Amino acid sequence: MSAASEVFRAALVTGGSSGIGRAVAGVLAGSGFDLTLVGRDPDRLGEAASALAATGRQVHTLVADLGQPDRAEEAVDAHVTRFGRLDCVVSNAGGGRRAEVADTDRRALRRLLAVHVESAFALARSALPLLRRPPGPDGRVGETTWFVATASVSGLAPTPGFAAYSAAKSALVSLVGSMNAEESIHGVRACALCPGFVDTPMTAPLGGAIDAPGMIRPEDVAASMSFLLSLSSNAIVGELVIQRAGTRPFEP
Ligand SMILES: NC(=O)c1ccc[n+]([C@@H]2O[C@H](COP(=O)([O-])OP(=O)(O)OC[C@H]3O[C@@H](n4cnc5c(N)ncnc54)[C@H](OP(=O)(O)O)[C@@H]3O)[C@@H](O)[C@H]2O)c1
Repeated sequence: MSAASEVFRAALVTGGSSGIGRAVAGVLAGSGFDLTLVGRDPDRLGEAASALAATGRQVHTLVADLGQPDRAEEAVDAHVTRFGRLDCVVSNAGGGRRAEVADTDRRALRRLLAVHVESAFALARSALPLLRRPPGPDGRVGETTWFVATASVSGLAPTPGFAAYSAAKSALVSLVGSMNAEESIHGVRACALCPGFVDTPMTAPLGGAIDAPGMIRPEDVAASMSFLLSLSSNAIVGELVIQRAGTRPFEP
């Protein structure tokens, strides 16, 4: 698409400073989206923004801890103040937590649910008025907007040893299903990205338990975003499962 014919669009990516979020942000920038990136570490955000700005898109950063879900709502407000429109939300920020049910303390559970689930709901509720599009003269909404949540295969079948994490990711899959049922008539398309282990800083602590060269690449997950952008407004893809080669179904 030439720059002259490019449609201006804007996206908000939480956890856009690293790993999967950064790779998805790269796809969005390459597809003509200006960006707001959200994360806690200003240096990592700044570094990602500089790299993405090389695409020619505007990249705004916001330092926020989404363990406080009010910050998700503030992020949407800041994005709209900056860009005046919102076409895509990627609810991706978060980290893993290894603990069996027997070892899951409630404080850690609350924190994990706040970052992964409550923030995603807060983002969705704040963003929906901006993502909805009006119907055309034929009553159909031809324009598509996107709400993408980075869930996990652990959200489709619990991963032993990751009880709270699996529960949080299941909640994201459910949120996405509800959004498609309730909002697709307004042009909003939601998708839960469900990868197995991806080679990012999050999986580094797994040490040698999982061989990093055999992990899914962040760019593999980001290719999902290209696929979603390529779909016609007639189609919904509510879940995208990306597995490591050689694993059983739903094995991370
Ligand atoms: N890697 C995997 O194997 C895998 C598989 C399935 C799903 N996922 C999911 O993919 C998402 C991204 O993970 P990743 O693997 O790309 O890890 P990553 O490289 O560590 O990136 C995590 C991103 O989230 C941000 N973040 C974390 N906690 C945050 C908080 N409380 N508030 C705001 N931002 C926060 C981080 O920035 P700051 O640290 O600066 O805040 C960073 O930008 C997560 O939701 C994860 O559960 C990962």
